[in-house]
Formats: sequence, structure tokens, C-alpha cells
Amino acid sequence: MKGFEILKIGIYPGSFDPVTNGHLDIISRSSGIVDKLIVAILYNPNKSNTLFTIEERVCLLEETTKHFPNVEIDSFSGLLVDYIQTVNANVIFRGLRAVTDFEYEMQMAQINKKLCSKAETLFMATSADYSFLSSSVVRELAYFGASTIGLVPDIVQQKIKEKY
Ligand code: PNS
Repeated sequence: MKGFEILKIGIYPGSFDPVTNGHLDIISRSSGIVDKLIVAILYNPNKSNTLFTIEERVCLLEETTKHFPNVEIDSFSGLLVDYIQTVNANVIFRGLRAVTDFEYEMQMAQINKKLCSKAETLFMATSADYSFLSSSVVRELAYFGASTIGLVPDIVQQKIKEKY
């Protein structure tokens, strides 16, 4: 309809425990192709072995994405398809690092589509610089006292130091 613009809302869901430079690369690139990007952190009350609490993860994401004017941070529990409908999102972004991610990501995209026909997933190829990087690798390095410099934003690096 003339004069009526549809706002494209993207969702970038994940655990973000913690947010890595790979996540920030996806946030930077995906926020450039939608009007608004919501980074949605899954709150799973049954998962106890997390490094950062949900509140800490929200704070770290807010801090590290504050220079993106169209990025919002939120958390959700339950099914992603229910959440995307509450925020009227048009598209789900997921980063693909390597072929090993593909099977799981494809399954998730197809289940989401089956559950909700408007749930469209867009896979974004991770930059080669971060193809080896994951939150679980960061948690393991942190646990064994290895440096995570260059893998996570400085503030996350600092918070990891405080934890151990
Ligand atoms: O960062 P992660 O842990 O790879 O993110 C996975 C996430 C949060 C996107 C996924 O587990 C999810 O969407 N969970 C919500 C529950 C759900 O909707 N499950 C059905 C799809 S399999």
C-alpha cells in the first residue's frame, strides 16, 4: 500500500554465554539489513552450568551493542516461534560457521517453519576470522585459565577474569 512501510524486524536468538566477537560480527551485519534487530537470549531455567547469568548476559550484550542504534536486547523462554510472534519478527538470523553447524541449524529452521509457517530463517556465513569460535570454546579456555583476548569483547574478557 502506498505510504505504508512495513518494518522489517529480525531476531538473532542464542544462548550468548558469553557473547563473542563472532556473535558481534553477525549482529553488525544482520542489523544492516533489517530495520530493527532483536538479539534474543534464551532463558533456560533448567540449565544450571552457565558461566554468566541471564541478567549478566543481557548487560554484556547491551554494553557491546550500544553503538548499533537499531539493535535491542531481550530474553525469552519457551519456543522461539512463540517469541517471534509476540515481537512480530519477520526473520530469524543464525550464523553458520562450518558444515558441522549445518545439520543442527537446518533441523532447527525446519522445525520452526513446521511449527509456524511465517518463521523464516536466514543463515549468515560467519567471517572466516571467527569460523572456529564458539561460546563453549571461550568457556573452556576461561575455565583452564587461557587467554580469550581477541575472541570476546574487552568487557567480556574483564568479566571472565573476575569470575575465575
Ligand atoms: O546459541 P545457541 O545455544 O546455539 O542457540 C540455540 C537457540 C536458543 C536458538 C535454540 O535452542 C532455541 O531456539 N531454543 C528455544 C526452544 C525452541 O524453540 N526449540 C525448537 C527449535 S529446535
